[in-house]
Amino acid sequence: MGFKKDFIWGAASAAYQVEGAAFEDGKGLNIWDAFSHEKGKIFDNHNGDTACDQYHRLEEDLNIMSELGLQSYRFSVSWARILPNGTGEVNEKGIEFYNRLINGLTKRGIKPCMTLYHWDLPYALHLKGGWLNDSSPEWFGEYAGVIKKYFGDRVHDFITFNEPQVFVGCGYFEGVHAPGYKLSKAELLRIGHNVLKAHGTAVKELRKGEECRIGITGASCPAIPVSESSEDIEAAKRCYYESNYDAFVFSDAYWLDPVFKGKYPDWVYGFEEINKPVITDDDLKLICQPIDFLGMNIYNGKYVSAKNGVLPNPQGFSRTAIGWPVTPEALYWGPKFMFERYGKPIIITENGMACHDAVSLDGNVHDENRIDYFRRYLREYKRAADDGINLNGYYVWSLTDNFEWGHGYNQRFGLTYIDYGTQKRIIKDSGMFIKDVIKCNGENL
Ligand code: IFM
Repeated sequence: MGFKKDFIWGAASAAYQVEGAAFEDGKGLNIWDAFSHEKGKIFDNHNGDTACDQYHRLEEDLNIMSELGLQSYRFSVSWARILPNGTGEVNEKGIEFYNRLINGLTKRGIKPCMTLYHWDLPYALHLKGGWLNDSSPEWFGEYAGVIKKYFGDRVHDFITFNEPQVFVGCGYFEGVHAPGYKLSKAELLRIGHNVLKAHGTAVKELRKGEECRIGITGASCPAIPVSESSEDIEAAKRCYYESNYDAFVFSDAYWLDPVFKGKYPDWVYGFEEINKPVITDDDLKLICQPIDFLGMNIYNGKYVSAKNGVLPNPQGFSRTAIGWPVTPEALYWGPKFMFERYGKPIIITENGMACHDAVSLDGNVHDENRIDYFRRYLREYKRAADDGINLNGYYVWSLTDNFEWGHGYNQRFGLTYIDYGTQKRIIKDSGMFIKDVIKCNGENL
């Protein structure tokens, strides 16, 4: 059976990680501009001021996408580039940049898939309390309206939020991402509710005018049953869907149940009353606007057995350069379980591997480990397609090496190598591998 005929293959990126031009052409500051300039926050004090300089090297990057045969490019918009204060005045230069990008994609037959929020909150809104401010859903709605007005004639695939688990969990709970806060449970639940309302408000704006497909993308660490016995499968499912007071912010169901089912998971209603935000029926109606797909970013999973719960990985277990375990079955069980729970088409909006890439004497980057990773993960994804799971697409993370948040430029995920000294691009062997996969719709896996 394999992947459907209209399955979409692409690569993904995010504004702060690739664009650079952080202080140019009227762009406003965002929380990552500020955070990355605080000493000691990022590996070797790197920052995204220049990143991959995509702002100035757009044509080159568009040509690489063509060379790789991408059918879609998933990118995010820098909110502060088009609304320097977060709301109000529109920055025409910012609009021009995204027009160049969208038109360049369209000209090459590559579908734009636009993410509205990949973590770079305008600093002006941060100063007003950011996601803690109960006006934040309206700010986001205004931004979504601007996006639809200027780009909605050519962009028909939108993702509201990328990985709320990570930008709230790492940014406001653990304090290792911008803005570097360690907030209380009550504050986190309030942020969560505002982000979900912002999602719903944006969906309403994006639905105006031309028809489009809308999704939300979560960071998912699927539970993988150690065997295919019904007991292990049930145990894995339970472990995947459930969470608790200490970890809710990182769970899938906390963010996705309200979006797809119109209510928080039962365990959330058990949280201490004093910490819970006011949750009205109208809020839940707003959050649960019908949407078209679930985006899943999957890099690894955890093995679960009915007898022993979550199992530790054995010593010496295969890991990527960033330290994440290599667990290809995550790309089978994650989509399968989430399709079962929400019944919506699934798109893998990110999957990929950090490697210790280097340019060889022959001038190329021979990243065999990454090719092996893709082959293993994609075979599992194909197995899910064979099982009848409704899969609409797959995006590699990432088109190019880029600014990997707290790790700076020290971790490379790209299909294209970036020499940050010269900004020279070299398509890696894995890029050519993915090109072949796309050409035959995964039949060579
Ligand atoms: O680089 C990130 C991306 O911004 C969000 N998902 C995970 C990637 C790798 O860490």
